[in-house]
Amino acid sequence: MISGHVFIATSLDGFIAKPDGDIQWLISRDDPQEDHGYNDFIKNIDGIIMGRGTFEKALSFASWYYTLPVIVLSQKLTENDIPEHLKDKVQISKLTPQDLMAALETKGWKRVYVDGGQTIQSFLRENLIKDMVITTVPVLIGEGRRLFGAVTDDISVKHIKTTTFPSGLVQTEYQVVR
Ligand SMILES: NC(=O)c1ccc[n+]([C@@H]2O[C@H](COP(=O)([O-])OP(=O)(O)OC[C@H]3O[C@@H](n4cnc5c(N)ncnc54)[C@H](OP(=O)(O)O)[C@@H]3O)[C@@H](O)[C@H]2O)c1
Repeated sequence: MISGHVFIATSLDGFIAKPDGDIQWLISRDDPQEDHGYNDFIKNIDGIIMGRGTFEKALSFASWYYTLPVIVLSQKLTENDIPEHLKDKVQISKLTPQDLMAALETKGWKRVYVDGGQTIQSFLRENLIKDMVITTVPVLIGEGRRLFGAVTDDISVKHIKTTTFPSGLVQTEYQVVR
C-alpha cells in the first residue's frame, strides 16, 4: 500500500514559512554539523509530492535541491511553467490527493514524501499520511503559513520519539492513527 510521509520544520508557534513564503528564519538556524536525519529519511522515499507554494520557493534557490522525482500539485500551473532544465525531474498534477496516490501506486511507488503546508493538510484530511517527523525551531515568527489547519474529524497521532539537538531544535516523530 502506498503511503505519505512528512518531514518538515516548523517555528515554535507552528508556521512553516512567513506570509510571503520566506524561510530565512529556518535556514539561518540550520547547523550543518548536526544530522537531523533528512538523508536517512529520503533514502526510503520513491518520490515527492509538493504544493505550488513549495515548488515556487524551491525554484527561487540557486540550484534544484531534489534528487528524486517531484510532482507539483497545482490547478494554476501547466507543464509550460516547468523550467527546461527540470522537465525530466518535475511534473505538474491536477489530480486529487487520493487519485494521485492511486496513480503513483500503479507506477510502483510505495513511500511518498509529502511537502508544503496546505498539501500536508489536504493529505492528512484524506488519511494519506502514515507518519510525520516534525522539527521545531526555537523561534516565534508571529504569523505565516501554517503546518496544520482545519480538519473534518479529529486526527489522533501516536508519539514515537523525540530527539533534542544541541542547537535547540526538537524533533518529534508521530504515527498517524486516526
Ligand atoms: N519549514 C519547512 O520545512 C518547509 C517545508 C516545505 C515548504 N515550506 C515553505 O512553505 C511554503 C509553502 O507552503 P504552503 O502551505 O503555502 O503551500 P503548498 O502546500 O506548498 O502549496 C499550496 C498550493 O498547492 C496547490 N494545490 C493543488 N492541489 C492541492 C491540494 N490538494 N492541497 C493543497 N494544495 C494544493 C494550490 O495551488 P494552485 O492555486 O496552483 O492550485 C495551493 O495554493 C513555502 O514558502 C515553502 O518554502 C517550508
